[in-house]
Amino acid sequence: MAFLVFEGIDGSGKSTLLNLLCGKLKEQKLPFVQTKEPGGTKIGQKIRKLLLEKDNTHLSPLAETLLYYADRRQHIEEFIKPHLKKNITVVSDRYWASTSAYQCGGRDISESFVESLKNQICKDCEPDLWILLDLPTETTLKRLFVSKKDNRDRMEMETSSFHQKVRDYYLQLAKKDPNKWLVLSGEKSPPLLLKELMSHLNSKEILL
Ligand code: TYD
Repeated sequence: MAFLVFEGIDGSGKSTLLNLLCGKLKEQKLPFVQTKEPGGTKIGQKIRKLLLEKDNTHLSPLAETLLYYADRRQHIEEFIKPHLKKNITVVSDRYWASTSAYQCGGRDISESFVESLKNQICKDCEPDLWILLDLPTETTLKRLFVSKKDNRDRMEMETSSFHQKVRDYYLQLAKKDPNKWLVLSGEKSPPLLLKELMSHLNSKEILL
């Protein structure tokens, strides 16, 4: 049993790899659940709407930060912890590192403020492994433009320099804690990425 989290800027390919991993877990008959932030619970789905609605351009950066954490607390209590308690692996698309990267890195919200939120809200619920899909921002923005065009959400509409700051922040987080972070190049093919991920999980004896 493990708590695994996928992170990366929009369009990095993390959801594709997450789905491939879940296919593998299914094949191996390992008990797991797949989830995401924001919106991993019914209440979280409502918070997600507020956060991603294109028209909410005037949402204050601090209110945005608190909404991501409100979604997260509900997710932890209602979904993540109960599954881990039952020895079921949880695979999540995003967790607290997203707030650090997007709101501290991208929006310049105080790091000490977000750190104290994290310490209080995520205590006793730390991932066993963070998987970062890293890719140059120009590539991810091009991908988003082609795949979503005018359907991009409020965050995806952000500038290239915003996404660059988010990417840099992620790389910093990974560098600070190399034992807990696996950084993969999103430029590689999905099957190759899955192979690299599985071999890392095996070597760290995660999921065994
Ligand atoms: P989503 O559609 O789930 O995008 P993705 O497939 O890229 O995960 O949208 C989530 C968006 O919210 C994404 O742009 C990242 C952003 N986000 C934050 O800014 N802070 C956070 O704490 C989280 C969890 C997400």
